[in-house]
Amino acid sequence: MTQLPGLLDTEAIRKDFPILDRQVHDGQKLVYLDNAATSQKPRQVLDALNEYYERYNANVHRGVHVLAEEATALYEGARDKVASFINAPSRDEVIFTKNASESLNLVANMLGWADEPYRVDHETEIVITEMEHHSNIVPWQLLSQRTGAKLKWFGLTDDGRLDLSNIDEIITEKTKIVSFVLVSNILGTVNPVEAIVRRAQEVGALVCIDASQAAPHMPLDVQSLQADFVAFTGHKMCGPTGIGVLWGRQELLEDLPPFLGGGEMIETVSMHSSTYAPAPHKFEAGTPPIAQAVGLGAAIDYLQSIGMDKILAHEHALTEYAVKRLGEVPDLRIIGPTTAEDRGAAISFTLGDIHPHDVGQVLDEQGIAVRVGHHCARPVCLRYGIPATTRASFYLYSTPAEIDALVEGLEHVRNFFG
Ligand code: ALA
Repeated sequence: MTQLPGLLDTEAIRKDFPILDRQVHDGQKLVYLDNAATSQKPRQVLDALNEYYERYNANVHRGVHVLAEEATALYEGARDKVASFINAPSRDEVIFTKNASESLNLVANMLGWADEPYRVDHETEIVITEMEHHSNIVPWQLLSQRTGAKLKWFGLTDDGRLDLSNIDEIITEKTKIVSFVLVSNILGTVNPVEAIVRRAQEVGALVCIDASQAAPHMPLDVQSLQADFVAFTGHKMCGPTGIGVLWGRQELLEDLPPFLGGGEMIETVSMHSSTYAPAPHKFEAGTPPIAQAVGLGAAIDYLQSIGMDKILAHEHALTEYAVKRLGEVPDLRIIGPTTAEDRGAAISFTLGDIHPHDVGQVLDEQGIAVRVGHHCARPVCLRYGIPATTRASFYLYSTPAEIDALVEGLEHVRNFFG
């Protein structure tokens, strides 16, 4: 078995993930390499969800009965866990949403309805990048269409990095918000946060970071990022689906208007007008994803029991190995950085002129799960002149043997298509 420095004890870790024992297609061992789409869930998270529904289920912040108080304590306890996981200065800066898309839409709508000095209007500019997931493009297009604000973006270099050569022309005195991804879901690129934040701060623009592909894989410290908003999702970090997070700086959350209205986000309501609860509740209208938040809290406990530094080192070792092994496959072209430096553990590639959907299907027949398509980042495919890519993405339970299986599987694909 291939041993690499920095690897976690995957034999022990994999025992926590029942699904990884599955066989598919009549006895093929599952090789799950689609972790950038969603991660698998450890037994500890499944147990927490079960226990919540078996013992504590009630609506939060409403009842005076025991279950309601216990459910509220669990839900708010999950908020404490998130706050400490991302080193937030205050738990009140952590807003629970449905997913990262909702978190990013929330920021766009807060700014769209805001008064000065945050207001986005036809005299202002919004900056994103060409490597964003659609969830960090479409909300800004909608805001730009609604307000007349100009949407600008950083382009990409040939090797899959942000082209910041014209940073002073892209981010200007008119820029109200710069929203960009920390780790690209399609290219794997880790972006230079500091340079972008520095320029944004020079012109007084707000900064929003999509950390969906970062929070599961590396230590995340919102204070050292120096952003104003950070969005991520639970289901990519061992948590359940249906729970996302928006962290925002407290003074902004106090000043900015809510987006969704409804129960629990108010202080008082009359037929003429309403006043709002303080953040984070101002931004959490209606019954929140309670069990999902509890599940996310359990996922954070699980990840922290292993250590985010160790998870990062594990994935770095795997990525280095994967880049080397994939380099041995004839006609394979990695789309994105071709070294393990400054890249995450999602690797997109093309294989000659075999369509990625065909690659994915033949791999699937061998039990190997990858994602194919434009990965909700279609502008990246347009930029590199390709219809789609095949993407393999790793996590804390991934092994070098699975990378060997992928490389072997790709040989089958090449033989199959001649
Ligand atoms: N954003 C997820 C992905 O990259 C779904 O696959």
